[in-house]
Amino acid sequence: MPVRALDAIPRAGLGHWPTPLQRCDRLRAALGGLGSCPEIWVKREDCSGVAFGGNKVRKLDLILGEAARGDLDVVITFGAVQSNHCRQTAAACNMLGIDCELVLAKIVPRHDELYEHGGNVLLDHLLGATLHLVDDAIAGLELLHERQSELEAAGRRVLSVPFGGSDLMGTLGYVVATEEWARQAAGVGLAGGFDRVVLATSTGGTYAGTLLGVKRRGLPTHVTGISAYGDAASAELGIVGLMAAAATELGIGPPDPRLVEVRDEFLGGGYGILTDGVIEAVRLFAQTESLLLDPVYSGKAGAGLISLIRSGEIAASERVLFIHTGGGPGLFAYGDAILGREAFSP
Ligand SMILES: Cc1ncc(COP(=O)(O)O)c(C=O)c1O
Repeated sequence: MPVRALDAIPRAGLGHWPTPLQRCDRLRAALGGLGSCPEIWVKREDCSGVAFGGNKVRKLDLILGEAARGDLDVVITFGAVQSNHCRQTAAACNMLGIDCELVLAKIVPRHDELYEHGGNVLLDHLLGATLHLVDDAIAGLELLHERQSELEAAGRRVLSVPFGGSDLMGTLGYVVATEEWARQAAGVGLAGGFDRVVLATSTGGTYAGTLLGVKRRGLPTHVTGISAYGDAASAELGIVGLMAAAATELGIGPPDPRLVEVRDEFLGGGYGILTDGVIEAVRLFAQTESLLLDPVYSGKAGAGLISLIRSGEIAASERVLFIHTGGGPGLFAYGDAILGREAFSP
């Protein structure tokens, strides 16, 4: 496989780039201010455009940019019922004139109306995707393969996008994002850049592309991933594999695997299950900076950030970049749990 320059990889033309870089002094003040809280900046990947945006637009720009060079006419992908990845894939497909089928698996123990029909699911319908709701992940993967075979047998040209868009191109999307925030940081006079990035991680492409981008640029930045999905060891293993493939594609050495840090202590009861820390983070980010975190991913990352600052593990002397990976529509599927029932009473 020939080595490729990042800029030579075709883009689908999705998204609003660059996404903003926002300094968050009110959030910093609420967490103790100068002397006890680091300087906090937020990379607004929630503003990537395309049906409420999020980190998957960044990945799909390259995944579909590459695939659309062929005669692609249907995309099929897979996620949880409230998958942001699926919603953004459906939106991206519309913009490219490609049909989209989504396999949504009930992997979160929520079976109420709000969860199964509101938030991202409402948007999936509105965007015109064909939805297949299944009971668990195994049934979802089986159906994914079945649909791919059926579509191909009918003469359709199909792309099956992996869970979370974490493949080679998706990972390279976050190398592009890292280039972008590094340039923005230099542009606002942050000469030394950031000491640390904090972000939500599940399928790993966002983290892998970020750490690879950091290495490629020679930045001194440590990357802390907050798991929204599973245990740290499995997440780290997946990230190392994605980084290796993307580094080969770019013809550079991969980062040292010992630099990969995923924290799973903020996961609580598991994927898609709220914790008190998430509820606090979602409220605090909203009420200080009008940043709308989501209950499943960026809310868990926000809870991790707050906790690591309070414990002093993230030192007050650091300069931190929080990557807001989006997910806002998920709030509408969790509103009652985040605010408490009484908030809905007159
Ligand atoms: C809002 C949001 N944040 C973070 C992530 C995690 O990104 P990744 O799957 O690249 O680890 C996702 C993935 O589904 C997401 O939807």
